[in-house]
Amino acid sequence: MSNTHWDPARYGLFGNERLRPAIDLIARLPKAASGFSPNHIVDLGCGPGSVTAVLAEAFSAGREDKPRVVGVDSSDEMLETARKRDDAIEWQKGDIASWEPDAPVDLLFSNAALHWVPDHSNLFPRLVNFVRPGGIIAIQVPNNFLAPSHQLIGEAGIEWRKEVATAMHAARIMRPGDYFDVLAPACDEIDLWQTQYCHVLSGTDAVYNWTSSTILRPVMAALPDDEARATFTEKYKDRLNQVYPMREDGRTLFPFNRLFMIARKRDK
Ligand SMILES: C[S@@+](CC[C@H](N)C(=O)[O-])C[C@H]1O[C@@H](n2cnc3c(N)ncnc32)[C@H](O)[C@@H]1O
Repeated sequence: MSNTHWDPARYGLFGNERLRPAIDLIARLPKAASGFSPNHIVDLGCGPGSVTAVLAEAFSAGREDKPRVVGVDSSDEMLETARKRDDAIEWQKGDIASWEPDAPVDLLFSNAALHWVPDHSNLFPRLVNFVRPGGIIAIQVPNNFLAPSHQLIGEAGIEWRKEVATAMHAARIMRPGDYFDVLAPACDEIDLWQTQYCHVLSGTDAVYNWTSSTILRPVMAALPDDEARATFTEKYKDRLNQVYPMREDGRTLFPFNRLFMIARKRDK
């Protein structure tokens, strides 16, 4: 589990940009009008709980019988922030790789978290198993691993290529077709799509500030000492600033790809 030292404050720096794909995923979920009214909702890798709260609100509004909403995460720092946010949501500490629900789930949701969990070809069928027949699994994962923001990490860290490659491997996803293949045996109505956002970020070293709270964490931890970290950071920032230049008005455009999937578990 690649999950030490999450910093909720740093992660929250680009809160609106990070919330957007979650809102887009929630918007595509079936609505109450179509008969979908989940009573047991789980958000895997809930982080600071901001998305869980939006999800809870989306399926509680106008209902007297509020659904049970559970947020699962392995980071104490993230869960501490989540607990302060909303005490109607059950916040559970757990590792997604071994987590099991105590009852079938109507809506199994995960935004920007499963790329940290290995072995998706086995993980996905396992997660689908926890969903009640007729229930929904809805996932969003970043798909920016081939973009300069991520490739330049390898370039700036060429001196420590083994450590960097191993650390980068902590986060990975499959191809869209592979997700279709692992979902299809148990699900129908499979909806897979990709979106490229073009985030408008403010401040100096904006893209560095973005990656440093996510993909860069295991890389920094893998570098041998502070001197290596300083050398790496300088090279990485220089390269980033060439590829993602700050505009005269102080803003930086950051294209970012994400992969979405929603599937309904087949009724037996
Ligand atoms: C990028 S944050 C996303 C948080 C939240 N879903 C959101 O959209 O704001 C990724 C979260 O996944 C959690 N995470 C990563 N690996 C995990 C694992 N194996 N089990 C549980 N949580 C994990 C991290 O602790 C972190 O809070």
